[in-house]
Amino acid sequence: MNTYFTILLFLVPIFLLLSRTRRYSKRIPPGSLGIPLIGQSLGFLRALHNNTAEKWLEDRIRKYGPVSKLSILGKPTVFIHGQAANKFVFHNNSSILANQQPESFAKILGDRNLMEVSAPDHKRIREALVSFLKPESLKQYIGKADEEVRKHIEIYWKGKQTVTVLPVMKILTFDIICSLLFGFEQGKQRDQFLYSFQEMLNGFWAVPINLPFTQYNRGLRESVRAQKLVKELVHEKRVLLEKKGASPRQDLITFLVSMHDEDGKPVLTDKEIVQNVVLSLLGGYETSATVITFIIRQLANEPTVCAAVLQEQQEIAKSKASGESLTWEDLAKMKYTWRVVMETMRMFPPIFGGFRKALTDIEFDGYLIPKGWQIFWAAPMTHMDSSLFPEPSKFDPNRFEKQASVPPHSLIPFGGGPRMCPGNELARIETLVAIHYLVTRYEWKLCADNLFSRDPMLKPTQGLPIKVWPRELA
Ligand code: HEM
Repeated sequence: MNTYFTILLFLVPIFLLLSRTRRYSKRIPPGSLGIPLIGQSLGFLRALHNNTAEKWLEDRIRKYGPVSKLSILGKPTVFIHGQAANKFVFHNNSSILANQQPESFAKILGDRNLMEVSAPDHKRIREALVSFLKPESLKQYIGKADEEVRKHIEIYWKGKQTVTVLPVMKILTFDIICSLLFGFEQGKQRDQFLYSFQEMLNGFWAVPINLPFTQYNRGLRESVRAQKLVKELVHEKRVLLEKKGASPRQDLITFLVSMHDEDGKPVLTDKEIVQNVVLSLLGGYETSATVITFIIRQLANEPTVCAAVLQEQQEIAKSKASGESLTWEDLAKMKYTWRVVMETMRMFPPIFGGFRKALTDIEFDGYLIPKGWQIFWAAPMTHMDSSLFPEPSKFDPNRFEKQASVPPHSLIPFGGGPRMCPGNELARIETLVAIHYLVTRYEWKLCADNLFSRDPMLKPTQGLPIKVWPRELA
């Protein structure tokens, strides 16, 4: 009897352990984590580069089903997709899902940037940024954006026979954001910033995509330099504010410096101001430049769409006196052009996808996502789903004629929920103003191949060189 009892005493825990492990592993999504550290990163990054990432993901779905595990950027990851997945990722409780970025992002941008912090700091910093970036406050900066676009056309388009669109659009969006965020214009200071920011962006991806380590180090070095320059600006703006020589809303830095709570304490520390101003510039200039570049590409490929945009923009131009700036009301009239922007972002989202991190064991679609694992979302999976957007490969701005026809949680170029891009309104202003002046003043055609890739940001392979000539006014 005693022997039986002892055997039982040993067997019961083993049986319980085995059945728990079996249950646990059964619920973990299918797939493979691949070779340690490398996992599927190289295959996925290669697919992004070759512009076959959607197919790469569809192949996974065919093989493993809608929820699967893999390893990206050295971390165990669960890939999920579809409307319910987007809702799960973007609208989940922040105490269950946190934001997750490659480690190099935090190293380069610092640990107090919006993408690294979680509630309640995320809410406090985000609210401060959004009070400046919300439509009601951005209205007053349309004149500045208008001025920058005209200056840009004078320098980079006027008298030219060819223009390589992406690099010049990056300069334009950089200048617009600099004038709004930093309150300074073209000159030596801007050139230093432009160099530093480009190097920081390169540094971001150097580690995740295995570029030479020197590139990452350059990113880090330039980040220190850019943050030092912004810190000096913070100091200058504070002195000006105290001397009443500046209005709080003249630029983002002055605005953030001027914010105090009811006890008179600054809402953001200087470190938070510096890191989040840098983040906003980095998050904003390349993405917006990419969207404008792809609209220019689409307008060259789609003459009917181009004619409709031109007609809408010429109506607005006719209502303006010579040299008069566009206004908020003018932008509200650009309804068709905005649909073209939306359709461009549907088919060519500048940001392919992103990550969240499970802060606790969490379930999705019957599967377990273990604590600490990444969750990977990808915009094209719903953007190009024919059950959500019929004939998804057809460029059809009219699909956005009725806002209600866009299925919920399906169009996510700006992400969604509490972490949705706070710069979306600024991006709208930059894009519509740029398209207004370009389309009413110039005609163009593509003079190289139509190919594009993701490195990992979307870009035409040759930067989109175009042949340009002034538009003959009818
Ligand atoms: C067409 C242009 C843009 C696109 C497509 C875009 C896209 C995105 C996406 C996909 C995210 C991640 C959302 C998430 O994880 O849920 C994001 C976050 C962010 N974007 Fe943008 N963005 C654009 C322009 C801008 C601009 C102009 C600014 C600057 C003012 C900006 C600042 C930010 C910031 C600060 C975040 C982090 C938000 C947070 O974590 O709470 N973006 N953006």
